[in-house]
Amino acid sequence: MPSSLNIWFVLVVSISVLISWTSLIGEGGQSSAPSASEFSSVSLASSYVESSLEYDFYRQTCPQAEAIVRSSMARIYSEHQDVSPALLRLFFHDCFIEVAAPFPSFSSLLFPKMRGCDASILLDDSNGDQNRSIERRAIPNKTLKGFDQIDLIKEELEKACPGVVSCADTVSIATRDGIVLAGGPFYPVLTGRRDSSHSYYNEALAEIPRPDDNVTQTLHLFALRGFDERETVSLLGGHNIGKIGCEVIEKRLSDFKGTGQPDPMIAPDFLTEMRLKCQDSSSNSTTLLPGMSYLQTLSSSMSSGASFGTHYYRSLLMGRGLLFADQQLMAEEKTARLVRAYASDDGSTFRMDFARALMKMSSLGVLTGLKGQVRRNCSLPVFTF
Ligand SMILES: *[C@@H]1O[C@H](CO)[C@@H](O)[C@H](O)[C@H]1NC(C)=O
Ligand SMILES: *[C@@H]1O[C@H](CO)[C@@H](O)[C@H](O)[C@H]1NC(C)=O
Ligand SMILES: *[C@@H]1O[C@H](CO)[C@@H](O)[C@H](O)[C@H]1NC(C)=O
Ligand SMILES: *[C@@H]1O[C@H](CO)[C@@H](O)[C@H](O)[C@H]1NC(C)=O
Ligand SMILES: *[C@@H]1O[C@H](CO)[C@@H](O)[C@H](O)[C@H]1NC(C)=O
Repeated sequence: MPSSLNIWFVLVVSISVLISWTSLIGEGGQSSAPSASEFSSVSLASSYVESSLEYDFYRQTCPQAEAIVRSSMARIYSEHQDVSPALLRLFFHDCFIEVAAPFPSFSSLLFPKMRGCDASILLDDSNGDQNRSIERRAIPNKTLKGFDQIDLIKEELEKACPGVVSCADTVSIATRDGIVLAGGPFYPVLTGRRDSSHSYYNEALAEIPRPDDNVTQTLHLFALRGFDERETVSLLGGHNIGKIGCEVIEKRLSDFKGTGQPDPMIAPDFLTEMRLKCQDSSSNSTTLLPGMSYLQTLSSSMSSGASFGTHYYRSLLMGRGLLFADQQLMAEEKTARLVRAYASDDGSTFRMDFARALMKMSSLGVLTGLKGQVRRNCSLPVFTF
């Protein structure tokens, strides 16, 4: 197989350069600044290996990959419509944890520090090591869902093309398909992501925006990932779909930021309404997890097909944001202006911006080329070294 020969050729070349590079560093001592020729050999080798996402990356190796994800998602969605918000959240949490690699060194080639949409969030700790750092456990309140659905889809992919399609691509494509099924915009997903072999606990905790962040903190965290105000406001519109768990809202209703009081910004009638909804559902919570959706916050106009429209932004205009972080978008003119703009048409401006911002997010810190690996079981890393 010529393609695997190529890969081995590059690997062997890279490793031999790596060995000479480290021995150079070892001998060079403090004066380890690379000379021009060493430098160019390094960048040559890394550009050899560097590649990027492509349109239809699997056209040769697994042409049916995207169709398999699409039909699996349609089947899952028909039974569990909450798969769409679940995957959107999973995807967001996976991609958002990104730390730029320092100088592109060979150690970052073999053990990449760059991470983002690399399916690290799917890694399980069930291979015995209780101490492993697991993003999945670090995520605020462990409310992430969708792992089982990704496993189902990946199983289908493995049947058709064993060991070819990465978990990171599976998540990215399935998320897009879930958004479309929920009535959201279609956008092309470039492919060719590879999976990480590590998970990162501390980054997971520190870098994810929190529901009680103020607008300054929210904008700051998104800006760290290269998103401007407009992109940030459109991405929060993902809250259009799905339910926000009462356990997340609870603090805001009774003990806001440790004051022992509700968030003073909540209008009394809305406070009563939220308390009632959360009580109701928690008394009989055997099947449904208690929570509230943005469709519920607007008592009027529940027309069908409006699930991915303007109701999130219209709710905020009426002061009926469920999360503090949501309502905070109205606290500053630069974001409030965008909320008003998104709320003012039929939703098409928001949908276009949302699709663009998600495309951008789906390429954050990806591993491509020879970096990372392709996991067969998304919960388990492949140990190659
Ligand atoms: C597990 O983590 C704890 C606390 O960080 C540490 O003290 C302990 O040595 C670790 N155990 C192993 C087997 O790594
Ligand atoms: C998640 O729950 C823990 C307690 O279980 C709490 O300390 C923490 O503040 C919660 N995080 C968020 C973001 O609500
Ligand atoms: C937002 O939160 C940060 C961190 O808690 C705080 O330093 C800042 O003063 C807050 N900004 C506003 C406008 O409340
Ligand atoms: C909760 O469920 C019980 C029986 O399962 C039923 O009698 C009761 O009316 C329900 N309460 C609410 C608020 O729906
Ligand atoms: C993947 O690995 C997990 C954790 O070890 C295991 O529970 C699961 O059954 C595996 N899935 C498949 C399809 O082998």
